[in-house]
Amino acid sequence: MKLDELDNLKKQALKEILASKDGKSLENLRVKFLGRKGGELTKILRTLKDLPIVEKRKIGPAANALREELEQAFKQKLKELLTSNPQLPTNLDITMPGKKIAVGHLHPLTLVENEIREIFKALNFSVVEGPEAETEHYNFDALNIPKDHPARDMWDTFWLKQETRDKKQETSKKNNTPHVADRLLLRTHTSPVQVRYMETHQPPFQIIVPGRVFRYEATDASHEINFYQVEGLMVGKDITLANFKYVIQEFFSRLFKKTVAIRLRPSYFPFVEPGLEVDVQCVKCGGKGCNVCKESGWLEVMGAGMVHPNVFEAAHYNPRDLQGFAFGLGLERIAMIKYNIPDIRLFYSGDLRFIKQF
Ligand code: PHE
Repeated sequence: MKLDELDNLKKQALKEILASKDGKSLENLRVKFLGRKGGELTKILRTLKDLPIVEKRKIGPAANALREELEQAFKQKLKELLTSNPQLPTNLDITMPGKKIAVGHLHPLTLVENEIREIFKALNFSVVEGPEAETEHYNFDALNIPKDHPARDMWDTFWLKQETRDKKQETSKKNNTPHVADRLLLRTHTSPVQVRYMETHQPPFQIIVPGRVFRYEATDASHEINFYQVEGLMVGKDITLANFKYVIQEFFSRLFKKTVAIRLRPSYFPFVEPGLEVDVQCVKCGGKGCNVCKESGWLEVMGAGMVHPNVFEAAHYNPRDLQGFAFGLGLERIAMIKYNIPDIRLFYSGDLRFIKQF
């Protein structure tokens, strides 16, 4: 009779243990069946002493075996609950809305730069970089912008104080020695990397140079004292403006994700001949005229041209053997067009309300 009782108890306990959904109800079950005071099995064990010895010998070991079996089952179930939901609270309401996890944002300039890098990489261009603190030689002289030439006024410059260099310069002036130390500045454009790259590489090649540049200028909605450019340079035996036109047309169409018309206008930069200004048809109004293109239908997006022979010479190339095109675009300008951003100063405002929109 007692044996039947044990058997029933076992069935019921195992069933309930199996069905329990969390640690708390499992613990309640443990108390219910194995608890020192009033546990079902404990109760049965307590009555053993009143039984005749023959019965005791049968039931005693059976009851102990059951205790062990149940303890094992509790342990097993607890392990299962812990591994399947490690820190699940016992009263979790899974229908409650979760807490929003704040994630960071890439700066719109980073987004546009990454996109431009990918487009040019797909067109077989390499991406190279150069120093932000540059020498007068690479920033100006090697780019066919001689000292005291009015063209230098196109790039208002932050000059860097470098005591030893400046002193050397003074002494060389005083002693009237021909050596003048190369002055340091914050590069006013990414074009100096053209010459740096050509000095250490042989054509044919095609590169882009993304980078930060600096100009000593008054700021307004379209001017900043520091901004980003992407320089391009392709050099080979018979590179022509037709190659340039194709590459740049392809680039803008991929960037704005539709075929955009481009327009080349004559312009002047000392390091190219001929020099060009590139316009794209307004991506907002399609050329009809709107506030973005100031009713002109066109957006001015880059300076460009065929590399000037003097620049090839500065890089110790023979200008008779080679031709190339170069271009320089302002990253902010592109981002402003792409995302409809009205003021360049927003990029550097550090205002999270701005950043979080991208
Ligand atoms: N470096 C020029 C600028 O900063 C842009 C440019 C690059 C023009 C290459 C022609 C060729 O304005």
